Amino acid sequence: MKAKFITLDGIDGAGKSTNLETIRLWFEQHQLPVLFTREPGGTAVGEALRTILLDSHSQLNARTETLLMFAARQQHLDTVIKPALAAGKHVVSDRFTDATFAYQGGGREIPLSDIAILENWVQHGFCPDMTLLLDISLSVAQQRVAQHSDPDRFEQLDSAFFERTRKIYLDRAATAPQRYHIINSNQPLAEVAAQINQSLSQLFGYTA
Ligand code: TMP
Repeated sequence: MKAKFITLDGIDGAGKSTNLETIRLWFEQHQLPVLFTREPGGTAVGEALRTILLDSHSQLNARTETLLMFAARQQHLDTVIKPALAAGKHVVSDRFTDATFAYQGGGREIPLSDIAILENWVQHGFCPDMTLLLDISLSVAQQRVAQHSDPDRFEQLDSAFFERTRKIYLDRAATAPQRYHIINSNQPLAEVAAQINQSLSQLFGYTA
């Protein structure tokens, strides 16, 4: 079986951490080799860029921010994601390029066509086999984020920013329904987990 590349995405407060555990358990139960990683990050350079990107004292303009996301992604793809897939390991990334379209394109209003140019330059058509998109209402997401004692550069942004971000995630999901599985994260945790398990089982051919 060709190794699969799976990404998990959604606005801040959508519940990625909890659901990553569900994914971890699914791979454990099915005894499949898997690497968990994240963006921005996943490499030494990527983690250094993450520190700059999330630091609320960083004075980054939107284009610089976009380029740094892709700089981290290039290193991540070349040194972690692609080698793992080539070695037969499945890869699960906590965020990927959909986040750049949603946050920098939607939130920061960088033209989506400019992001698509960078995507093409860095990825040459490479994209996830499946994206689990956690969708949640703005009010619930913001309540969760408000509980963080030390919000990062993104978590401090206002609800209009996250409305635009969420819209781009949903727009992108609508254009490629075979790749995106939208998970309604407003549901009780057990139902969200069941939906994630079902999506994974379907991708790996364990169900009809
Ligand atoms: P997280 O690991 O808690 O999701 O934090 C990463 C933050 O970075 C999150 O607020 C989303 C943001 N981000 C972007 O703005 N663009 C991107 O391309 C990626 C990968 C993340």
